[in-house]
Amino acid sequence: MSNAFIKTAVIGHPIGHSKSPLIHSHWLEKHELSGSYEAIDVSVDNLKQGVADIIKNGFSGFNVTIPHKISIMAICDEIDGLATTIGAVNTVTIKNGMLYGTNTDGFGFVENIKRSASDFDFTKGKAVVLGAGGAANAVIYALLQEGVPEIFITNRTKEKAQKLTAFNPEKIKAIDWALRHDVLEHANLIINTTSLGMAGNPPLEINLRAAPAHALVADIVYAPLMTDLLTRAKACKLHTVTGIGMLLHQARPGFELWNGVLPEVTEELEQLVLT
Ligand SMILES: NC(=O)c1ccc[n+]([C@@H]2O[C@H](COP(=O)([O-])OP(=O)(O)OC[C@H]3O[C@@H](n4cnc5c(N)ncnc54)[C@H](OP(=O)(O)O)[C@@H]3O)[C@@H](O)[C@H]2O)c1
Repeated sequence: MSNAFIKTAVIGHPIGHSKSPLIHSHWLEKHELSGSYEAIDVSVDNLKQGVADIIKNGFSGFNVTIPHKISIMAICDEIDGLATTIGAVNTVTIKNGMLYGTNTDGFGFVENIKRSASDFDFTKGKAVVLGAGGAANAVIYALLQEGVPEIFITNRTKEKAQKLTAFNPEKIKAIDWALRHDVLEHANLIINTTSLGMAGNPPLEINLRAAPAHALVADIVYAPLMTDLLTRAKACKLHTVTGIGMLLHQARPGFELWNGVLPEVTEELEQLVLT
């Protein structure tokens, strides 16, 4: 391992709430690496200049969060196929002043399920995705990559769900939000990608009665860790996966790109981020 000091960051606005500095600093320390990871507040109007400053200051890469995940694409010199398909970049590597963009959200989502429910088989049946916002893109594309045979997307604004069917119109169907309860019948996987259930937001109202006993219920909201949806799913004896693992796992590929080590998600890190 070289001793070069590696500077990395996350950019967004607002950025004070970001858990990324905690996660990356923990890994830097764990692997005894010489480097830093800071949160940089970059406003919408200042993205181009903010990124130019990052390059000038010798950073090796940065994560991108709300509201820049789409607008950063116009500034990147190269975007890989995955991020192009998803339509968003959350990880940028800088080499010789050039910006290379990718997206690790889908990896984080899938890896979390694989680690949390090791017996789960994505190919066994249909997935129901609640929500069609920014996070849903990466989740839906990752589900297709894992061989999910059929995906039903239900969203308050149906047009947004309809747009996402373009990933694979034969396998993906957009469903009216009012029908979200009934569509759970025969579901293998049920995922909340809406912001409902997040602290300060109303809970997701959904009747889980139609969900089969083997269904896995995953929430990508992680604050609180046990959302109302997950608490009710547990009460119905359904398998559940919380959202914190997605946040932690999506950070791993970026850390590896910049520091040359693929770090692990441990219980210690999970506790650190949750407290
Ligand atoms: N675990 C992780 O690593 C991770 C990663 C990314 C995001 N997240 C979490 O996932 C959630 C969504 O993030 P995002 O970036 O996709 O947000 P977003 O782009 O703002 O999308 C929000 C989604 O929630 C729906 N929604 C909001 N209020 C609603 C309401 N009252 N009734 C019905 N639907 C409602 C929206 O429906 P409309 O389209 O109709 O507005 C949309 O589908 C956030 O809580 C975020 O913290 C977690």
